Amino acid sequence: MINQKQGTLVCVGTGMRMAGQLTPIAQSYIESFDVVIATVPNIFTRKWLQGMAKEYICLNDHYDDTKVEGKSRRDTYRRMTDTILKEVRSGRKVCAAFYGHPGIFACISHMSITEARAEGYDAHMEPGISALDCLVADLGIDPGNDGMQSMETTQFMIYKRIVDPSSLLILWQVGVAGDLTLKRFDTEAVHLELLVKKLNKYYPLDHQIFLYEAATDPLEKTRIDRINLGDLSQAKLKQITTLVIPPSIDMEKDQEIFDQLHATIIERKLEPQAF
Ligand SMILES: C[S@@+](CC[C@H](N)C(=O)[O-])C[C@H]1O[C@@H](n2cnc3c(N)ncnc32)[C@H](O)[C@@H]1O
Repeated sequence: MINQKQGTLVCVGTGMRMAGQLTPIAQSYIESFDVVIATVPNIFTRKWLQGMAKEYICLNDHYDDTKVEGKSRRDTYRRMTDTILKEVRSGRKVCAAFYGHPGIFACISHMSITEARAEGYDAHMEPGISALDCLVADLGIDPGNDGMQSMETTQFMIYKRIVDPSSLLILWQVGVAGDLTLKRFDTEAVHLELLVKKLNKYYPLDHQIFLYEAATDPLEKTRIDRINLGDLSQAKLKQITTLVIPPSIDMEKDQEIFDQLHATIIERKLEPQAF
């Protein structure tokens, strides 16, 4: 079926650090599309995007919805999506820009693309450099070594998730841990105490964890604070803090599967390596 509709949507990521982490393809969409619609917290990144775009619509003020009684961040995300779709429906080429990767912990891009496609518009996402990519580089952690679990902190708290303490655990949005109102932009000691209590089922209180905040412009310094799990409730957290929990135990071998694989190697007179 040929798409008859004029409007186009592409969602791009700006990376975490200003300028240097923008991919060439994302930059070309930002420069050439009719309008750039963005929610980017760093003021320098915002100004820099504004300078490149033909027209710029800033979505940051949509967060004020959370100050209205009965409204939460869900209303903010809905209104942001509606603002993007309105421009697409008017037949324009729309570039929606998000910091980091546009599809990681960024429901607006996913909603906008799904809804635009359902209405018959061309819509796609270009990958960007996320906080996780920076974390891997800055902390020198290879998620391939022990495997990795990654989840939103409040989701981890309120659902029965299966945690594997022999793998790396990344908890996002620890700075709003335990906020059930979806209105707050901070957390409090009592929420963090509950988080520590839950994590303590899997990790000892003296387990060393990291508070990670990637620098987002050349004036900032990357934060990598190593603390004991038991001290988390007293730590200073920001909206951008990511909690990194290295494994506390070694992986346990599944001897049954291992022996079966081993037998297939021996059968073929091949030489197994040590694992
Ligand atoms: C709504 S998500 C946005 C993630 C973003 N789209 C990305 O690709 O990384 C916000 C969460 O990302 C993480 N985050 C955002 N900025 C960060 C930074 N500068 N350093 C470390 N983690 C960050 C934090 O866990 C924060 O609570």
